Amino acid sequence: MSNGGLNLDRRQFLTLATTVAGGAGAAAVAVPFIASFNPSTRAQGLGAPVEVDIARLEEGEMLTIEWRGKPVYVVKRPAALLESLDQVESRLKDPESIKPQQPEYAANKYRSIKPEILVLVGVCTHLGCAPLFRPEVAPADLGSDWPGGFFCPCHGSKFDLSGRVYAGVPAQDNLAVPPYRFESDSVLTIGEDQEAAA
Ligand code: FES
Repeated sequence: MSNGGLNLDRRQFLTLATTVAGGAGAAAVAVPFIASFNPSTRAQGLGAPVEVDIARLEEGEMLTIEWRGKPVYVVKRPAALLESLDQVESRLKDPESIKPQQPEYAANKYRSIKPEILVLVGVCTHLGCAPLFRPEVAPADLGSDWPGGFFCPCHGSKFDLSGRVYAGVPAQDNLAVPPYRFESDSVLTIGEDQEAAA
């Protein structure tokens, strides 16, 4: 086992996350948030920004919204969980996020504006399947060194909890981070850069 550094808080979180997300991944917690969409379906299809209320998003939960016809994942990560981002760096293809798979303001290990809030395009960079949110530690199917992340069962690509791709899997690039900004602590706009709003 290589779960050193995982403290009790994190384990408790992961238990919660597993309970919430379950085997069905994002869809299990996406439904309650759909009503917070602003633009019409047609406007979204044309690429209009989408406003998302994350006030009810609990630590360990992930919600899924649709933007430009693609799923966008929003995950609330507890501070304790962020420790794993350092622990897996040597196993990643692009730990520094050198490739432009994110806006400049998300080119950090958290790949986010606020460390606790992760926003990702839920499209695998191999052939475009939707990776599953798998936050649990060392599940039987992913191995004893799995510290939580995203798993694409189509061809076995693995990503950490910042959406950074592991070495030795089919996907070459980190999951994309869409442009987004915070309207407030609890409201995000997906599809507009924070700089553009300044
Ligand atoms: S589409 Fe994700 S691993 Fe192939």
